[in-house]
Amino acid sequence: MSQTTLIKPSDDVAEYLRAHENKGLLRFITCGSVDDGKSTLIGRLLYDSKLIYDDQLAALESDTKKHGTQGEKIDFALLVDGLAAEREQGITIDVAYRFFSTEKRKFIVADTPGHEQYTRNMATGASTADLAVILIDARRGVLTQTRRHSYIVSLLGIRHIVVAINKMDLVGYSETTFNAIEAEYRAFAEELGFESIVCIPMSALEGDNITAKSAKTPWHNGPALLPYLETVDVRGDAVDKAFRLPVQWVNRPNLDFRGFSGTIASGSVKPGDEIVVVPSAKRSRVKSIVTMDGDLAEAGPDMAVTVTLEDEIDISRGDVICAGNAPAEQTDQFAAHILWMAEDKLYPGRQYLLKTANRIVSATATELKHKVNVNTLEHMSGKTLELNEVGFCNFALSAPIAFDSYKENRKTGSFILIDKRSNATIGAGLIDFSLRRAQNVHWQDLDIDKKARANAKHQRPCVLWFTGLSGSGKSTVANLVEKRLHDLGRHTYTLDGDNVRHGLNKDLGFTNEDRVENIRRVAEAAKLMADAGLIVCVSFISPFQSERRMARDLMADGEFVEVYISTPLEVCERRDVKGLYVKARRGEIKNFTGIDSPYEAPQSAEIDVDTSDIAAADAADQIVEYLRERGYLSV
Ligand code: ADX
Repeated sequence: MSQTTLIKPSDDVAEYLRAHENKGLLRFITCGSVDDGKSTLIGRLLYDSKLIYDDQLAALESDTKKHGTQGEKIDFALLVDGLAAEREQGITIDVAYRFFSTEKRKFIVADTPGHEQYTRNMATGASTADLAVILIDARRGVLTQTRRHSYIVSLLGIRHIVVAINKMDLVGYSETTFNAIEAEYRAFAEELGFESIVCIPMSALEGDNITAKSAKTPWHNGPALLPYLETVDVRGDAVDKAFRLPVQWVNRPNLDFRGFSGTIASGSVKPGDEIVVVPSAKRSRVKSIVTMDGDLAEAGPDMAVTVTLEDEIDISRGDVICAGNAPAEQTDQFAAHILWMAEDKLYPGRQYLLKTANRIVSATATELKHKVNVNTLEHMSGKTLELNEVGFCNFALSAPIAFDSYKENRKTGSFILIDKRSNATIGAGLIDFSLRRAQNVHWQDLDIDKKARANAKHQRPCVLWFTGLSGSGKSTVANLVEKRLHDLGRHTYTLDGDNVRHGLNKDLGFTNEDRVENIRRVAEAAKLMADAGLIVCVSFISPFQSERRMARDLMADGEFVEVYISTPLEVCERRDVKGLYVKARRGEIKNFTGIDSPYEAPQSAEIDVDTSDIAAADAADQIVEYLRERGYLSV
């Protein structure tokens, strides 16, 4: 039976690893396009190491006759592309993992499509790899895409590179060509800080320098590819790092047992070791390491364990148990590299979910410091990130997390960003450092609180959030509501889009990113006013559900009342009180809501009024009545 194991992502990776337990494992990624001969290379690796099932080989030979582009020779690209067809449907990240083993080692190859738009696929494959094979077509030399691939793998923490200078047969196995490409690559890669770079001249098609050294490159002093991959030392990563166990759950089957379960992210642990819990800083010692197969004397990276401690200390999901002498840091603000993976842009100020190994918190990119041109490595300024772009951002979180810098620890230094509405993964982040201001800014306790302020005014604070198109009647109705409340002796304030944009938000325009920031600021302002005990009317188009949701979440329970002024576009446009729709239709105003900029209607506003159905005064009465009925006006 052949040793090849080609399994789909849905199959049990752990099972494969167990079967080959006593061999070392090398995870690597191949970077390059089909044009560089990537599929041929992978096919050749599998074929030459006799790692293909016989029936697959027969199929390959007959396919080659039918579709091959290589005459009578076997077209290895067909093998890999055929396997690609087996990929699970519906996975958004397009990475194929291939598993094979030789006498000396087992391998997991992450194979990703190489086009520019697939940065996210490459990043996904690279995030678990220890080494990258970067393909270069000897006829074309170092290209923009070579630089892009190298930057991304360096960003993702890969320290070992094989530069596969392929298609040497097409340049007459020229040593000069090889040397020139090697020199150019090394010069460029210097700033990426790789630990090892090995350049190998090869022809994947002819099989030169793949499994054995080729007689056609007698000048090549280095190794052939497979023997190198079998022996290259990429250790020194997870095992030598400080112990980290992100706690996934607290295992408490009965009163006598209390264990903390998770997969060890790095380092090793033994009974008796001193540990410290981040963020609580509580200390104890490990009593036992429990697994399904009994207690262990020691456990290391990637092992799923349950740890019991000598002392009863409070630990919950989301905490990280760390080596006593080397705790992880904790912060609620940090700077990180972000790889953006969604069609919808990154909007600084918008709230996303941030997921670490064991924790989910709300997070906002507070500032995009710069974008990185992944082709030239230049820093560029920008307000947002688009699909496949990389940027360096400051983040603020809703609660502190335990972390290490990604450079120190790939597991505890990385996170993903999730869209709150669609639940889709939209970004990957690599934490660089905690922002010092996070450590230096504390909450100041104040003796007079919201309740005291509200009591002094004999009222219950709330925020009436008017949303709707320009000209829908938001401001008119909000104004009437405030007047009615004022007449009732209430303490009020109205934040109106047009007015706030003359002061606090003077610097903002009408791009999506500016609108996100506009609403973030006004929601924070409204929160302060509610904290001051006021009843606040907010009248902003506020076109996005995400930001209205964010505003709602900022306020206390029941304090946020969303009022959707649902007057249809045709009516708003017919009214055109400010003459803006006419200008927008003429193209004189860009990004006008309802014309060439979206408005996402509320799904479950507390109040919905259409001012083409009822007069503004009646709408105002209806809203005040709502407040009265729900007890907002009684103290
Ligand atoms: S929001 O979308 O960011 O919430 P906001 O309520 O602050 O908008 O401002 C909307 C007001 O700005 C409109 O009532 C209108 O008077 C004016 N305005 C100017 N340009 C635009 C535009 N491109 N889109 C919408 N409103 C605009």
